[in-house]
Amino acid sequence: MKFFVDTADVGEIRELNDIGLLDGVTTNPSLILKSGRDIAEVTKEICDIVDGPVSAEVAATDFDGMMKEADILGKIADNVCIKLPLTMDGLKACRAITQGGQQVNVTLCFSANQALLAAKAGATFISPFIGRLDDMAIDGMELIEEIRTIYDNYEFDTEILAASIRTVNHVKEAALLGADVATVPPATLKALVKHPLTDKGLDAFLADWAKTGQKIA
Ligand code: E4P
Repeated sequence: MKFFVDTADVGEIRELNDIGLLDGVTTNPSLILKSGRDIAEVTKEICDIVDGPVSAEVAATDFDGMMKEADILGKIADNVCIKLPLTMDGLKACRAITQGGQQVNVTLCFSANQALLAAKAGATFISPFIGRLDDMAIDGMELIEEIRTIYDNYEFDTEILAASIRTVNHVKEAALLGADVATVPPATLKALVKHPLTDKGLDAFLADWAKTGQKIA
């Protein structure tokens, strides 16, 4: 499973990339707002840090506007992945942009039929929003499972990018169900390493090691 980080915080991205954990980055207008940065400037900085796809989202809602904004965003760096909403205009733009050779992440997916349409439009990634479905008492993981089955049935190349991840269990369940990618907030990504028995075990080993009086040198 590939890991993308879901943030426009350059400090967090640099830290996780230095660990070697990052395969890409996703941003959205809310994350750009939170960063307080200019979209072109921060996207360029992120693209210089991370080798993989960096999703930058259009704000236009009509086909022509999306194409114009995609052109501007696409010129920021070679690894910019254009993020488009799951609307008819978004699907039309997806087809046009992917035919031109650029990667597209179709976002705000909440149903298997929407995911089917995105795959037919040639999307590189489909982003089902797990957490936002869970918020409405709908099991977001069922959607991942349904999309996996449909994409496998028809051998679509579109990668399932599990999004709106809120917990470490979301990551595990998405991985078990065969999502290709998870885009995860920095704190959740860091929490994946935590286990109380790891900490307890390490403390005990270090205490015993100190008693040996040895040094590895
Ligand atoms: C995905 O690309 C989105 O940026 C993100 O995962 C949305 O997450 P949220 O529902 O926590 O805002």
